[in-house]
Amino acid sequence: MAQKPWGGRFSEETDKLVEEFTASVHYDKRLALYDIRGSIAHARMLGKTGIIPLEDAEKIIAGLKEIEKDIKEGRFKWRKDLEDVHMNIEAALYEKIGPVAGKLHTARSRNDQVATDVRLFLRDVIDETLSRLKDLRKALVEKAKENLEVILPGFTHLQHAQPVLLAHHLMAYYEMFTRDAKRFAFVRQETNVCPLGSAALAGTPFPVDREMVAQELGFAGITRNSMDAVSDRDFIVSFLAAASLAFVHLSRLSEELILWISQEFGFIDLPDKLCTGSSIMPQKKNPDVAELIRGKSGRVFGNLFTLLTVLKGLPMTYNRDLQEDKEPLFDTVDTLLAVLALAKELIVGLKVNRERMRKACEEGHLTATDLADYLVTKGLPFREAHHVVGRLVAYCEEKGQKLWELPIEKLKEFSELIGEDVYEWLTLEGSVSRRKVVGGTAPEQVEKAIYQAEKELEA
Ligand code: ARG
Repeated sequence: MAQKPWGGRFSEETDKLVEEFTASVHYDKRLALYDIRGSIAHARMLGKTGIIPLEDAEKIIAGLKEIEKDIKEGRFKWRKDLEDVHMNIEAALYEKIGPVAGKLHTARSRNDQVATDVRLFLRDVIDETLSRLKDLRKALVEKAKENLEVILPGFTHLQHAQPVLLAHHLMAYYEMFTRDAKRFAFVRQETNVCPLGSAALAGTPFPVDREMVAQELGFAGITRNSMDAVSDRDFIVSFLAAASLAFVHLSRLSEELILWISQEFGFIDLPDKLCTGSSIMPQKKNPDVAELIRGKSGRVFGNLFTLLTVLKGLPMTYNRDLQEDKEPLFDTVDTLLAVLALAKELIVGLKVNRERMRKACEEGHLTATDLADYLVTKGLPFREAHHVVGRLVAYCEEKGQKLWELPIEKLKEFSELIGEDVYEWLTLEGSVSRRKVVGGTAPEQVEKAIYQAEKELEA
């Protein structure tokens, strides 16, 4: 009979199909180094508290360190018949140090062990996520700074609405990614507590020192209820949710880049090294990276739903269903980290076509609101002003003219209140610079936002 750690009460070999079906080692081996760290901390505590002899703890720790080396140097042989990462490492420890290996699992279960491993793994992932998010936020601020005087049409309903600074537009994304960073930092706190000591579900009768283990592993604290601790995957849901929302933002940004690089907009170009071609149309240069970012949001949202569905309806406490948490988590981690790095490259590489943006501002009567506001300053109620300008716009449309091209006599036909000073209100620069409200697109406000962002990024 194959040596399964849990084989004692069994009288026949596991069915091959079952072995295949229940195994997770082909993906959870990714947790190996965290598993070893957790085991070393646990063994040290067992020795220190006298739950096992100190010499045994030292042997176990030395053996685990050798295994760590074997894994890092690619010598470790993973066995599917040993089911998961935990039992693979335990079996290897047995081979290295003999029966004393069996003492490591004192006062522990795979249930609190795996929960610990995933928390350690995710904590590192979140730190890397925050670092990459920061690089992306920096790139946005840099690009905003380089383009402070560039004006483009601001859109609502994908229709030209009012002129805005490109820097203001870019800083809007800075806001989204800054909220994401805060969200991930919060998930890190939720993740950073140690379940060890919960054992299978009820806690352990041995006099373990939970605080010592938590401290050694760099956790900020310990979980409070053993039953919750072994079945809680909320912190993974929180991470997948934060990643999903980050992908909403990444996908929106991508969509804009895709629109902007199209011939219709022509607002930007991207470096060749970040684009791909067509196998049939020689002239093509496609924004595939941005498209794939947009597309990959699908799997990231899907992974969130996978885990929510796995968790709903699980009775207390650990259930094997929980093993299904890892593949969605790993997939989102890999997708998110790659995409954050690429999104940053897209922003750094973004080449702005100022002339095209400027030219686009001539279409769509972007300063019509300014004209209405002008009439308000002359005493007309806004609703009436809106109506007057609406009629003016209709006239311009009919004649194929721009508001600011109309001579003063013509403008006066629509309202006696209009004087020579109106033309300043109809310029793009005038429109933008009057929006001095906090959070508005006036250059001084956008410069303030950039300054504020730079301070945040230094912190
Ligand atoms: N591979 C398992 C998981 O990921 C580890 C815990 C297994 N525990 C158990 N009692 N079968 O959830």
